[in-house]
Amino acid sequence: MVKWTDQERSTVRAVWEQINIDEVGPEALARVLIVYPWTERYFGSLGELFTASAVLNNAKVAAHGRVVLRALDEAVKNMDNIEDTYAALSQLHYEKLHVDPDNFRLLADCITITVACKLRSAMGPQVQATWQKFLSAVVDALQSQYH
Ligand code: HEM
Repeated sequence: MVKWTDQERSTVRAVWEQINIDEVGPEALARVLIVYPWTERYFGSLGELFTASAVLNNAKVAAHGRVVLRALDEAVKNMDNIEDTYAALSQLHYEKLHVDPDNFRLLADCITITVACKLRSAMGPQVQATWQKFLSAVVDALQSQYH
């Protein structure tokens, strides 16, 4: 289980409070689909993506980006128990969606970049390090049911 200092807890909460889910969710998911185009294979139901502008203007990408970001709220609220919190979600991505587990880290990195672009100076190196530790715990939890 990941250990958190009080400062790390408050840093994660402070970053989370500044995140606009409706902006960051769609932008982060669009970014992962553009930078790592093979991730599009999992989103056959999102319609034709192919070009960057198609991805950025796709309403379903935006909607699903919000769903993913909203799910992060659960991790922020359960920092001491992220693995259990995401056990069912991990199982869904493994057994039903067949998502390659490496992709979780790719999305986590795109979330960090998107957040850093928004927060700018509020996302200094120390804050980024703590935020990445948090997302790394999320990634580990989402991979936990893969076997
Ligand atoms: C569905 C969260 C990463 C592909 C979902 C759902 C949530 C979620 C909450 C909806 C589950 C439901 O309907 O019960 C997350 C989180 C991620 C993550 C928190 C990492 C931070 C990924 C990645 C991929 C992916 C990296 C693929 C590259 C999908 C697909 C669905 C889905 C294809 C089903 C979409 C649909 O048909 O509605 N995810 N996900 N997810 N996720 Fe993820």
